[in-house]
Amino acid sequence: MRSKRGLWSTKFGFYLVAIGSACGLGNIWRFPYIVGENGGGAFVLLYAVLALSVGLPLLIGELLLGKYTRRSLMSAASQIKGPSFKALQWLSLVSILLALFILSYYAVISGWVLHFVMQFVVSFIKPQMEQKDFLATLMSNGLLQAGLASVHLVLVFIVVMKGVQEGIEKWIGNMMPLFMILLVYLMAKSLSLPSAENAMRFLLYPDFSKLNSSSLISALGHVFFTLSVGFGAMVTFGSYMHEGEHVPSAGFRVALTDSFISILAGLLVFPMALQVSQSRLTDPTLIFEALPMFFMSNKAGNVFGLVFFLCLYIASLGASIGLLEVVVSNVVDRIPSLGRKKVAIIISGIAFLISTIPSFSSSNLRQVQVAGRGVLENIDIILITWVLPFVALCGSFVITYVLPDKPKQLEFCNPSHFNSTSLYGFWKWSLKYYIPAIIILGFILRFL
Ligand code: PHE
Repeated sequence: MRSKRGLWSTKFGFYLVAIGSACGLGNIWRFPYIVGENGGGAFVLLYAVLALSVGLPLLIGELLLGKYTRRSLMSAASQIKGPSFKALQWLSLVSILLALFILSYYAVISGWVLHFVMQFVVSFIKPQMEQKDFLATLMSNGLLQAGLASVHLVLVFIVVMKGVQEGIEKWIGNMMPLFMILLVYLMAKSLSLPSAENAMRFLLYPDFSKLNSSSLISALGHVFFTLSVGFGAMVTFGSYMHEGEHVPSAGFRVALTDSFISILAGLLVFPMALQVSQSRLTDPTLIFEALPMFFMSNKAGNVFGLVFFLCLYIASLGASIGLLEVVVSNVVDRIPSLGRKKVAIIISGIAFLISTIPSFSSSNLRQVQVAGRGVLENIDIILITWVLPFVALCGSFVITYVLPDKPKQLEFCNPSHFNSTSLYGFWKWSLKYYIPAIIILGFILRFL
């Protein structure tokens, strides 16, 4: 089952890429408005519990599958013989397609971020510019959004084409520390605002009456999205792991850092948003509307605006690199003769074509509404709240029934570096009973 392939150059390389791919728009753009939509503290608590009890066991399972087979999801699935073969092939195909669709949708939002970076740069030259024009210009212009998405995809392509150590590890390795410094600095600034107290209460005080029947499945979808579980991403990253690396602790660190960054982002975004207006907390444009407004109403606000959106762009670039890498590595593993470069070009091109649909969501396709929501929001709900939890549910079956016991046991019960039979038992139990039950309950509550 083992084949020669590139490995992370250092142990730290794995963390940088896994965390760099997990921390993205999901933490900084999506988490705050989903929390706003679901009433604040109670949802944050639900999210935190699910991240550790549902997301983490699945994350460990995906990493293990990659480390054991040394392959990306699709070719790992093709190794498995027996009655589950066909089902596995389909499941892995759905996962990879999901990564491709998310990459396309992600490119549009990353394009928005790029737009704000550029607008803040321009604001140094033209200080009289109104911030509300930033978003209005963007929303009314589908071509601009598609163009920005294509610029983003070209940047992502350049990094992924260079391969694991050359491209991905080096780039994210340089960007992650900068990202963390910027985030902490802006959070400290935000927490010194008069609105910080209200924001903290909203974010941390759990009022369970604010949860609704779709909160559970929304929280689950977001946990999978933000931890990059269900796309085969962690299978690919696990496949580059060193033999001596301990998967459960690696998974734990990734999940903890990712959740920590989401909370940090909440602490950064909500005081700023509350300082400006109360009404925008539930809107996907939350950070694109309220934050520039806040920045521009402050002295030296354009410097902070530029720093914030640069920080967000770094995060979205890291995550997009992860998404494209998953699709590319799966295709290259299946059809090595095509070569990495050609595959990266083809996949980026397809992602661009798909991205044109959400790009026009707020302009030419504005009239296309389903259940009172526009195209972009419906794509988000279908992919993240419906398809992703379903794929994760199937993933829990694969890890439980298809992945052999031996490599799993070895990771948990290995006297040379980690030995916990009870943790192993608990992990197996959660994948076999608890996780499927919670996901099914989420669907039932949503459709009741
Ligand atoms: N986890 C990323 C985010 O929160 C999205 C992502 C999913 C990235 C899958 C890579 C793979 O933004």
